[in-house]
Amino acid sequence: MMAYMDSEILDIAKMPRGGFDASCLDRRLQTDRLEYLDRSDVDDRTNRQIVDALDRIGTLFNGHDKNARLVLAEVADVADPKILELGSGHGGLSRKLLEHHPTAQVTVTDVDPGSVTDIAASDLGSHPQASVREMDATAIDAPDGYFDLAVFAMSFHHLPPPLASRVFAEGTRVADKLVIIDMPRPPSLLHVLRLSAMLPFAGLVPLLHDGAISSLRSYSPSALRALAAHADSAIELDLRGGLLSAQMVVAFRR
Ligand SMILES: C[S@@+](CC[C@H](N)C(=O)[O-])C[C@H]1O[C@@H](n2cnc3c(N)ncnc32)[C@H](O)[C@@H]1O
Repeated sequence: MMAYMDSEILDIAKMPRGGFDASCLDRRLQTDRLEYLDRSDVDDRTNRQIVDALDRIGTLFNGHDKNARLVLAEVADVADPKILELGSGHGGLSRKLLEHHPTAQVTVTDVDPGSVTDIAASDLGSHPQASVREMDATAIDAPDGYFDLAVFAMSFHHLPPPLASRVFAEGTRVADKLVIIDMPRPPSLLHVLRLSAMLPFAGLVPLLHDGAISSLRSYSPSALRALAAHADSAIELDLRGGLLSAQMVVAFRR
Protein backbone atom coordinates (compact mmCIF):
# COMPACT_ATOMS: atom_id res chain seq x y z
CA MET A 1 0.00 0.00 0.00
CA MET A 2 2.80 2.39 0.97
CA ALA A 3 4.72 1.62 -2.24
CA TYR A 4 1.52 2.30 -4.21
CA MET A 5 1.04 5.62 -2.41
CA ASP A 6 4.68 6.65 -2.90
CA SER A 7 4.71 5.99 -6.63
CA GLU A 8 1.34 7.71 -7.10
CA ILE A 9 2.37 10.74 -5.06
CA LEU A 10 5.42 11.17 -7.28
CA ASP A 11 2.93 11.52 -10.12
CA ILE A 12 0.97 14.25 -8.39
CA ALA A 13 0.46 16.20 -11.63
CA LYS A 14 -1.76 13.37 -12.86
CA MET A 15 -3.83 13.10 -9.71
CA PRO A 16 -7.58 13.47 -10.36
CA ARG A 17 -9.27 16.25 -8.39
CA GLY A 18 -11.13 13.51 -6.54
CA GLY A 19 -7.83 11.92 -5.47
CA PHE A 20 -6.00 8.78 -6.59
CA ASP A 21 -8.88 6.64 -5.34
CA ALA A 22 -11.59 8.62 -7.20
CA SER A 23 -14.40 6.63 -8.84
CA CYS A 24 -14.77 6.48 -12.64
CA LEU A 25 -17.62 9.00 -12.53
CA ASP A 26 -15.72 11.35 -10.24
CA ARG A 27 -12.73 11.26 -12.63
CA ARG A 28 -15.02 12.55 -15.38
CA LEU A 29 -16.26 15.41 -13.24
CA GLN A 30 -13.24 17.63 -13.75
CA THR A 31 -11.95 20.02 -16.36
CA ASP A 32 -8.80 21.71 -17.58
CA ARG A 33 -10.84 24.76 -18.61
CA LEU A 34 -9.80 27.89 -16.77
CA GLU A 35 -12.05 30.26 -14.88
CA TYR A 36 -12.28 33.81 -16.22
CA LEU A 37 -10.35 34.86 -13.12
CA ASP A 38 -7.38 32.74 -14.24
CA ARG A 39 -7.26 33.92 -17.85
CA SER A 40 -5.03 36.71 -19.07
CA ASP A 41 -7.08 37.08 -22.28
CA VAL A 42 -10.25 38.11 -20.40
CA ASP A 43 -10.91 41.83 -20.05
CA ASP A 44 -10.25 43.28 -16.64
CA ARG A 45 -13.86 44.50 -16.32
CA THR A 46 -15.22 40.91 -16.34
CA ASN A 47 -12.74 39.85 -13.68
CA ARG A 48 -13.52 42.89 -11.52
CA GLN A 49 -17.25 42.08 -11.87
CA ILE A 50 -16.63 38.53 -10.63
CA VAL A 51 -14.48 39.65 -7.71
CA ASP A 52 -17.05 42.32 -6.73
CA ALA A 53 -19.85 39.74 -6.95
CA LEU A 54 -17.88 37.36 -4.68
CA ASP A 55 -17.47 40.18 -2.17
CA ARG A 56 -21.17 41.05 -2.28
CA ILE A 57 -22.19 37.39 -1.86
CA GLY A 58 -19.72 36.98 1.04
CA THR A 59 -21.22 40.05 2.71
CA LEU A 60 -24.87 39.22 1.98
CA PHE A 61 -24.69 35.60 3.18
CA ASN A 62 -22.23 36.34 6.01
CA GLY A 63 -19.51 34.18 4.44
CA HIS A 64 -16.71 36.63 5.24
CA ASP A 65 -17.91 36.91 8.82
CA LYS A 66 -18.22 33.15 9.27
CA ASN A 67 -14.79 32.51 7.76
CA ALA A 68 -13.22 35.22 9.93
CA ARG A 69 -14.65 33.58 13.05
CA LEU A 70 -13.34 30.15 11.96
CA VAL A 71 -9.89 31.64 11.36
CA LEU A 72 -9.79 33.56 14.63
CA ALA A 73 -10.80 30.43 16.57
CA GLU A 74 -7.54 28.87 15.31
CA VAL A 75 -5.46 31.64 16.90
CA ALA A 76 -7.58 32.11 20.02
CA ASP A 77 -4.55 31.42 22.23
CA VAL A 78 -2.32 34.04 20.52
CA ALA A 79 -2.53 37.54 22.02
CA ASP A 80 -1.71 39.65 18.93
CA PRO A 81 -1.84 37.23 16.01
CA LYS A 82 -0.02 37.90 12.77
CA ILE A 83 -2.31 36.67 9.99
CA LEU A 84 -1.57 36.36 6.29
CA GLU A 85 -4.48 36.30 3.87
CA LEU A 86 -3.56 34.76 0.51
CA GLY A 87 -5.76 35.16 -2.58
CA SER A 88 -7.77 37.86 -0.85
CA GLY A 89 -9.42 39.11 -4.09
CA HIS A 90 -11.43 41.93 -2.52
CA GLY A 91 -10.27 42.04 1.11
CA GLY A 92 -13.67 41.04 2.57
CA LEU A 93 -12.25 38.36 4.89
CA SER A 94 -9.36 40.54 6.11
CA ARG A 95 -11.80 43.37 6.83
CA LYS A 96 -13.80 41.05 9.10
CA LEU A 97 -10.65 39.70 10.78
CA LEU A 98 -9.68 43.26 11.71
CA GLU A 99 -13.22 44.07 12.81
CA HIS A 100 -13.39 41.07 15.15
CA HIS A 101 -9.83 41.19 16.52
CA PRO A 102 -8.66 44.57 17.78
CA THR A 103 -4.95 43.65 17.93
CA ALA A 104 -4.49 41.30 14.95
CA GLN A 105 -1.93 42.32 12.31
CA VAL A 106 -3.21 41.30 8.90
CA THR A 107 -1.18 41.07 5.70
CA VAL A 108 -3.70 41.17 2.84
CA THR A 109 -2.38 39.68 -0.40
CA ASP A 110 -3.29 38.42 -3.84
CA VAL A 111 -1.30 37.28 -6.87
CA ASP A 112 -3.37 39.55 -9.14
CA PRO A 113 -1.91 43.08 -9.31
CA GLY A 114 -5.36 44.59 -10.16
CA SER A 115 -6.91 43.13 -7.01
CA VAL A 116 -3.99 44.35 -4.91
CA THR A 117 -4.34 47.88 -6.34
CA ASP A 118 -8.08 47.89 -5.58
CA ILE A 119 -7.61 46.57 -2.04
CA ALA A 120 -4.83 49.09 -1.38
CA ALA A 121 -7.14 51.89 -2.55
CA SER A 122 -9.88 50.74 -0.14
CA ASP A 123 -10.12 51.30 3.62
CA LEU A 124 -7.64 48.43 4.11
CA GLY A 125 -4.88 50.44 2.42
CA SER A 126 -4.82 52.95 5.29
CA HIS A 127 -5.78 50.61 8.14
CA PRO A 128 -3.06 50.82 10.83
CA GLN A 129 -3.06 47.04 11.37
CA ALA A 130 -3.19 45.98 7.73
CA SER A 131 -0.56 45.83 5.03
CA VAL A 132 -1.51 45.10 1.45
CA ARG A 133 0.91 43.25 -0.84
CA GLU A 134 1.13 41.28 -4.03
CA MET A 135 1.99 37.69 -3.21
CA ASP A 136 1.88 34.25 -4.79
CA ALA A 137 0.57 31.55 -2.46
CA THR A 138 2.92 29.06 -4.11
CA ALA A 139 6.07 31.13 -3.40
CA ILE A 140 5.42 33.20 -0.30
CA ASP A 141 7.80 36.08 0.27
CA ALA A 142 8.19 35.77 4.07
CA PRO A 143 10.64 34.15 6.50
CA ASP A 144 9.96 30.75 8.09
CA GLY A 145 7.44 30.93 10.94
CA TYR A 146 6.79 34.66 10.49
CA PHE A 147 2.98 34.36 10.74
CA ASP A 148 0.79 32.66 13.32
CA LEU A 149 -1.69 31.72 10.61
CA ALA A 150 -2.07 31.89 6.84
CA VAL A 151 -5.51 31.60 5.24
CA PHE A 152 -6.41 30.87 1.60
CA ALA A 153 -10.18 31.15 1.06
CA MET A 154 -12.15 29.97 -1.98
CA SER A 155 -8.98 29.97 -4.08
CA PHE A 156 -7.17 26.64 -3.65
CA HIS A 157 -9.08 24.90 -6.45
CA HIS A 158 -7.67 27.46 -8.92
CA LEU A 159 -4.31 25.68 -8.70
CA PRO A 160 -3.37 22.43 -10.46
CA PRO A 161 -2.02 19.68 -8.18
CA PRO A 162 1.73 20.53 -8.32
CA LEU A 163 1.04 24.18 -7.41
CA ALA A 164 -1.65 23.30 -4.87
CA SER A 165 0.90 21.09 -3.18
CA ARG A 166 3.32 24.05 -3.08
CA VAL A 167 0.69 26.02 -1.11
CA PHE A 168 0.81 23.34 1.61
CA ALA A 169 4.61 23.55 1.65
CA GLU A 170 4.77 27.34 1.65
CA GLY A 171 1.80 28.04 3.93
CA THR A 172 3.09 25.70 6.64
CA ARG A 173 6.63 27.10 6.21
CA VAL A 174 5.71 30.74 6.86
CA ALA A 175 2.89 30.15 9.37
CA ASP A 176 2.27 27.87 12.35
CA LYS A 177 -1.10 26.98 10.81
CA LEU A 178 -2.39 27.09 7.26
CA VAL A 179 -6.17 27.30 6.91
CA ILE A 180 -7.69 26.49 3.52
CA ILE A 181 -11.40 27.14 3.05
CA ASP A 182 -12.76 26.01 -0.28
CA MET A 183 -15.68 24.59 -2.22
CA PRO A 184 -16.47 21.02 -1.23
CA ARG A 185 -16.24 18.20 -3.75
CA PRO A 186 -19.54 16.39 -3.17
CA PRO A 187 -20.16 12.69 -3.83
CA SER A 188 -20.46 12.25 -7.60
CA LEU A 189 -24.24 12.03 -7.95
CA LEU A 190 -24.74 15.15 -5.83
CA HIS A 191 -21.97 16.77 -7.85
CA VAL A 192 -23.85 16.04 -11.09
CA LEU A 193 -26.96 17.67 -9.58
CA ARG A 194 -24.99 20.74 -8.51
CA LEU A 195 -23.46 21.07 -11.97
CA SER A 196 -26.81 20.65 -13.72
CA ALA A 197 -28.13 23.63 -11.77
CA MET A 198 -25.19 25.80 -12.86
CA LEU A 199 -24.28 24.72 -16.38
CA PRO A 200 -27.39 25.98 -18.26
CA PHE A 201 -26.55 29.55 -17.15
CA ALA A 202 -22.76 29.32 -17.27
CA GLY A 203 -22.59 30.90 -20.73
CA LEU A 204 -24.70 33.84 -19.61
CA VAL A 205 -23.44 34.70 -16.14
CA PRO A 206 -19.64 34.94 -15.67
CA LEU A 207 -19.95 34.13 -11.96
CA LEU A 208 -21.76 30.85 -12.75
CA HIS A 209 -19.22 30.04 -15.47
CA ASP A 210 -16.48 30.31 -12.85
CA GLY A 211 -18.67 28.56 -10.26
CA ALA A 212 -19.17 25.50 -12.49
CA ILE A 213 -15.45 25.29 -13.27
CA SER A 214 -14.62 25.76 -9.56
CA SER A 215 -16.90 22.86 -8.75
CA LEU A 216 -15.19 20.63 -11.33
CA ARG A 217 -11.78 21.64 -10.02
CA SER A 218 -12.55 21.29 -6.32
CA TYR A 219 -10.38 18.78 -4.44
CA SER A 220 -11.71 15.87 -2.38
CA PRO A 221 -10.41 15.10 1.13
CA SER A 222 -8.38 12.23 -0.33
CA ALA A 223 -6.78 14.59 -2.87
CA LEU A 224 -6.03 17.14 -0.14
CA ARG A 225 -4.22 14.48 1.89
CA ALA A 226 -2.16 13.42 -1.14
CA LEU A 227 -1.25 17.05 -1.93
CA ALA A 228 -0.08 17.66 1.64
CA ALA A 229 1.87 14.39 1.75
CA HIS A 230 3.52 15.29 -1.55
CA ALA A 231 4.54 18.67 -0.09
CA ASP A 232 6.06 17.21 3.08
CA SER A 233 5.35 14.06 5.07
CA ALA A 234 5.63 16.16 8.25
CA ILE A 235 2.44 18.08 7.37
CA GLU A 236 -0.66 17.00 9.25
CA LEU A 237 -4.21 17.86 8.25
CA ASP A 238 -7.39 18.41 10.14
CA LEU A 239 -10.29 18.28 7.63
CA ARG A 240 -13.68 19.72 8.54
CA GLY A 241 -17.08 20.34 6.94
CA GLY A 242 -17.40 19.84 3.25
CA LEU A 243 -20.50 17.90 2.24
CA LEU A 244 -22.69 20.82 1.29
CA SER A 245 -20.97 23.59 3.24
CA ALA A 246 -17.46 24.85 2.50
CA GLN A 247 -14.66 22.49 3.45
CA MET A 248 -11.97 23.68 5.82
CA VAL A 249 -8.46 22.31 6.12
CA VAL A 250 -6.11 23.17 8.97
CA ALA A 251 -2.55 22.17 8.07
CA PHE A 252 0.48 22.28 10.36
CA ARG A 253 3.86 20.65 10.66
CA ARG A 254 4.54 18.09 13.39
C1 LIG B 1 -12.40 33.03 -6.38
S1 LIG B 1 -11.30 34.29 -5.88
C2 LIG B 1 -11.52 34.24 -4.12
C3 LIG B 1 -11.42 35.62 -3.51
C4 LIG B 1 -11.68 35.64 -2.00
N1 LIG B 1 -10.65 34.93 -1.27
C5 LIG B 1 -13.04 35.10 -1.66
O1 LIG B 1 -13.13 34.24 -0.76
O2 LIG B 1 -14.04 35.56 -2.22
C6 LIG B 1 -9.73 33.51 -6.09
C7 LIG B 1 -8.57 34.43 -5.83
O3 LIG B 1 -7.38 33.65 -5.78
C8 LIG B 1 -6.36 34.41 -6.36
N2 LIG B 1 -5.25 33.51 -6.74
C9 LIG B 1 -5.21 32.62 -7.77
N3 LIG B 1 -4.00 32.02 -7.80
C10 LIG B 1 -3.30 32.51 -6.75
C11 LIG B 1 -1.99 32.31 -6.27
N4 LIG B 1 -1.14 31.44 -6.85
N5 LIG B 1 -1.57 33.00 -5.19
C12 LIG B 1 -2.40 33.89 -4.59
N6 LIG B 1 -3.64 34.15 -5.01
C13 LIG B 1 -4.09 33.46 -6.08
C14 LIG B 1 -7.03 35.11 -7.53
O4 LIG B 1 -6.30 36.22 -7.99
C15 LIG B 1 -8.37 35.49 -6.90
O5 LIG B 1 -8.33 36.75 -6.29
